[in-house]
Amino acid sequence: MSMDELIKRTSNHIRTARQLAVLTGAGVSKESGVPTFRDAQEGLWAQFDPTQLATPFAFMENPKLVWDFYEYRRERMRPAQPNPGHYALAELQRRYPSLRIITQNVDDLHERAGSTEVIRLHGNIAGNKCFFNCQGDPTPVDVSQIEWDKTSGPPPCPHCGKWVRPSVVWFGEMLPSEQVRRAKELLNSADLILVVGTSGLVSPAADMPYLVKQRGGVVIEINPDSSSAIARIADIHLQGPSGEILPQVLAALLDAS
Ligand code: APR
Repeated sequence: MSMDELIKRTSNHIRTARQLAVLTGAGVSKESGVPTFRDAQEGLWAQFDPTQLATPFAFMENPKLVWDFYEYRRERMRPAQPNPGHYALAELQRRYPSLRIITQNVDDLHERAGSTEVIRLHGNIAGNKCFFNCQGDPTPVDVSQIEWDKTSGPPPCPHCGKWVRPSVVWFGEMLPSEQVRRAKELLNSADLILVVGTSGLVSPAADMPYLVKQRGGVVIEINPDSSSAIARIADIHLQGPSGEILPQVLAALLDAS
């Protein structure tokens, strides 16, 4: 089937869906130049395995090393701007207000493109919190209000004096319970899930398309790679970069309305 035909079918599914869910991963931010977790390393950081740095144990062992790694990642993400894929999703939500995005990304490009009520499974790299959540889970900390020697590693928590850490979910940590609750609620009613730019390897996000499928819903995947774990169950696979495909889906919807 031609891409035009697949996009037309996708827009028909979207038009008739009652509850739309979108699950996004690193691929949706690729065209914004956000380095993925695994290819973020260069120079000094090339010698480290990021999966070994992104753990609470690594942080306890060497807080400065892990803090510096996140400062480096933040620096590399700073120039990133939303791409046409982010904007198309935000426009889709304006037209279908029940649409909700669940993202595994720690950037804020969905929100900056105009999407609202984004369900963030892995936190936000721009934020920080107390490592011990000394005032409750989470205890956000605004580091711009703290004066400390930036070469010494993480700043001290203004409440307890212990470490501040990035507000992201590390390997071996629980996902934020409120975000998981909202995601489950959405998936229990979604009759269509659009899966964009995720390899579908990391649970529980990886299981989400399966939940919708099991309930008789439609799974549509957008990914240049046709061998992702989601491709197996996708009703429609739109093969290509999301920054190009999503605007085409939106255009097809507008054409038909
Ligand atoms: N448009 C859409 N998809 C793309 C694009 C693009 N332009 N470029 C690449 N992709 C796809 C890749 O083919 C791949 O399937 O995006 C996917 C990215 O996969 P991962 O790097 O594994 O990212 P993700 O699925 O988000 O990873 C999940 O694992 O690395 C940890 O915690 C991190 O949140 C992350 C989680």
